[in-house]
Amino acid sequence: MRAAVRFDDQAQFHPRKYLLSLLGAMPGDGSYVFENTRALNIEDGDPCVVFTNRGRIKAKNVIIATHFPFYDKGFFYARLMPKRDYVLAAGIKGQVPDGMYYCRTGSTIRSIRNQPAGEESLLLICGGSHKSGDVDDTIRYYRETEEYARRHFDVRSIDWRWSTQDYDAVDGLPYIGRSHNSERIYIACGFGGWGMTNGTLSAMIVTDDILGRKNPWAALFKPDRINLGGLEKMAVAGTRVIADYTAEHLTRIKPGDPLELATGEGRLMRVDGKKAAVCKNGQGKIHKLSIHCPHMSCIVNWNNAEKTWDCPCHGSQFEAGGKIIHGPALADLRSVE
Ligand code: FES
Repeated sequence: MRAAVRFDDQAQFHPRKYLLSLLGAMPGDGSYVFENTRALNIEDGDPCVVFTNRGRIKAKNVIIATHFPFYDKGFFYARLMPKRDYVLAAGIKGQVPDGMYYCRTGSTIRSIRNQPAGEESLLLICGGSHKSGDVDDTIRYYRETEEYARRHFDVRSIDWRWSTQDYDAVDGLPYIGRSHNSERIYIACGFGGWGMTNGTLSAMIVTDDILGRKNPWAALFKPDRINLGGLEKMAVAGTRVIADYTAEHLTRIKPGDPLELATGEGRLMRVDGKKAAVCKNGQGKIHKLSIHCPHMSCIVNWNNAEKTWDCPCHGSQFEAGGKIIHGPALADLRSVE
């Protein structure tokens, strides 16, 4: 190790328990939680109207905190980049270290922390970050994370594994504050994986604005800021979106036979002259879907670790059968049966 920085007075807490406590603190007098409800659009006004798949909701102010804002008046499609990280929860022999660690070797970053689990503690090891939907073999990231864990700890078992998706802002700072040209709609996104900290910061900035209080950090995080540091990355992200529409990707779709697929395999292929995203799910059923993401028509990619179709442009994710899991797309992948 060449160097390390230590931050004192860090807090580590359980996100779900934290959320449940917040929900418990809601007074219920005009405050509601609507679960399993997908917001589809917003009409700005006084009041604003949120259109959902289960009805309309009116509110004086609306805060969009949906990872990628589905209501995009600020060109977020060119200012946010999706990334996927991999996490293992491992049982180890001996004492699980206290504290949270962030380790960087070259371009590889890993974070390590403990997680109480009944009588024991598990070690959470996170890493293997890559742009969502942009690699062909995602299983390799779990493998590499496990190799890292076994190199540094006496691993007894790998109990759980999952991958996460976050969005980086092109200039590295979250976008928090009023949406472009709106008095009542707010945005909070681009947390870059630091959701508990930046979510809390967002709540402070947005609450202050709604209540007419001055907030010392508001200007720094304004969603409509443009700074030179972000312009280059914005151009790269925009070029990538165009590339995903065009020849480079279309030419790699070769004729194929869905019956050749192994269980759990997915591929872009030309079937009977039509381009299709084809996979064989765990039960052996073959799905043939449109290759185009319903958000802005980029071409989806098979994620062999999660068995999903992932969009490289803005991170929409779909089940093997095409059902939407994660926006900004608002619809399923179309079937081309
Ligand atoms: S998520 Fe935007 S095109 Fe797919």
